[in-house]
Amino acid sequence: MTELAPATTKSAKTLPYQSRRTFAIISHPDAGKTTLTERLLAASGAIQEAGQVRGRSNKRATRSDWMEIEQKRGISITSSVMTFEHSGLTFNLLDTPGHSDFSEDTYRTLTAVDAAVMVIDLAKGIESQTLKLFEVCRLRDIPIVTFVNKVDREGQEPLDILDEIASTLALDVTPIVWPLGQGVDFRGTVDLVAGEVLSPSGEVMREFEDVDELLLDEKLNADPVIRNSLETLDLARAGLPEFDLETFRAGHLTPVVFGSALKGISVPELLAALGDWAPEPRPQPAEPTPILPSEPKVSGFVFKVQANMDANHRDRVAFVRLCSGTFRRGMKLRNVRTGKDLAIANPMFFFGATRETADEAVAGDIVGIPNHGSLSVGDTLTEGASFKVTGIPNFAPEILRRVRLTDPIKAKQLGKALSDLAEEGVAQVFRRMVGADWLVGVVGPLQLEVLAARIAKEYNVPITFEDVGFEMARWVEAEDKDELKRFITANKLELAEDKAGDPIFLAQNSWWLARAERDWPGIRFFATKERN
Ligand code: G4P
Repeated sequence: MTELAPATTKSAKTLPYQSRRTFAIISHPDAGKTTLTERLLAASGAIQEAGQVRGRSNKRATRSDWMEIEQKRGISITSSVMTFEHSGLTFNLLDTPGHSDFSEDTYRTLTAVDAAVMVIDLAKGIESQTLKLFEVCRLRDIPIVTFVNKVDREGQEPLDILDEIASTLALDVTPIVWPLGQGVDFRGTVDLVAGEVLSPSGEVMREFEDVDELLLDEKLNADPVIRNSLETLDLARAGLPEFDLETFRAGHLTPVVFGSALKGISVPELLAALGDWAPEPRPQPAEPTPILPSEPKVSGFVFKVQANMDANHRDRVAFVRLCSGTFRRGMKLRNVRTGKDLAIANPMFFFGATRETADEAVAGDIVGIPNHGSLSVGDTLTEGASFKVTGIPNFAPEILRRVRLTDPIKAKQLGKALSDLAEEGVAQVFRRMVGADWLVGVVGPLQLEVLAARIAKEYNVPITFEDVGFEMARWVEAEDKDELKRFITANKLELAEDKAGDPIFLAQNSWWLARAERDWPGIRFFATKERN
């Protein structure tokens, strides 16, 4: 199977950052992200056994449980990044919170990774949250390895699921681990990269050079389940493109692994695909020029800020993705937005079991920086240079609410609180063009709870939220400024301004949005906007 030979991951002169593989898992709730995370950590020896990762038991936590979790400082912070080592590589797995704690952070985390694993349930196929997260990956052409999970249960036919991925996501698909049967009839897998037929427990039952050999193997084909699976594999080979590293890295082709996170089936093969094919840290888009990971000076950007719910002191941790250089404890870095230097005395490093004492980090790594509000999402940190990382977007809110003050005297404090928390990335804040209402926009309901709790605690301003009848929002722009003015005048009631004063169109639902797009061909509607 030479055509699928893995790319070499190590050159003669491997720099530390070249051993980093920074990725996230994207999936819909219940597809098996937590189970797979445990399996990956267990396969690398970072945890002793599956069942130790936060999330499983907490994920269905009620709101009050969640507050308590946050209060027990550290638990959710440390699980935001999981680092493990395998085959001489360091994998940084960034958590993309789902379920009730789905938020803009979930989306923005994807701006800090170089690759993603997309977990799909064999029975359910592509579900809504997977699709949303995939679209964010596509914004940056992030290469994706697909893991079709739960082959130990009855699901769709492999060819059907490949078809669904290809047509729904407009991606080329290439199976690299093929299932022999499924559910109670599961007989094992064919690893098309290594050229091995594996038993359900992962033992090598047969090696091969070419799939044609398997089709002619009488012993294998005596089992009708295996014969049928090999025949469909043959069809898949005939109809689908071969794996191509460049196309994968450009984000246009996804290799597909069929397996079971729960049973550990195909997890080593997934890890091998990530190690061999997922890119080392990529150049970071920035102005005036992209930042190369090989540049000696340290740079990075904040992609997430985690507040500490029980503190009155606004202490929080900024998660910084390093883009270049070697970061060391005690270093001074400049926040390009404010021009202020920050002595970073207590950075948090996230390392697996084998590297607990490490106190350096390189491009691709994540460093947690405790601060009192000086760092916001999107901030660039450098050793003094004034370039700015780009491509850190705001995402159009999916939930919009009017903010209602319980005590009208506190209007001014409310303005300050909303402005601070918007800066930090907790929620987005908008002002209606007609009337003076504050609107807040979020992508997950828990963000609203967090916002209200923090405004009450940190600013002593009690608030409630009211429905405003809008479900969607899109930033609007036009080549022709007069056309934009006409659009704004004609739709004043449906328009608001964001913090930067840019107009955003509010729609009752997708039908209204589609109608506005049709009626105003000169206006462009955007679901994301670069943070400024
Ligand atoms: P998530 O983080 O994506 O939400 O999913 P999670 O790993 O929690 O898995 C969701 C459910 O699917 C769990 O069952 C889990 O055991 C099951 N699951 C995950 N991978 C596989 C697999 O390969 N095969 C099968 N058959 N099931 C799988 P649960 O009953 O909801 O939770 P639990 O009681 O097992 O914790």
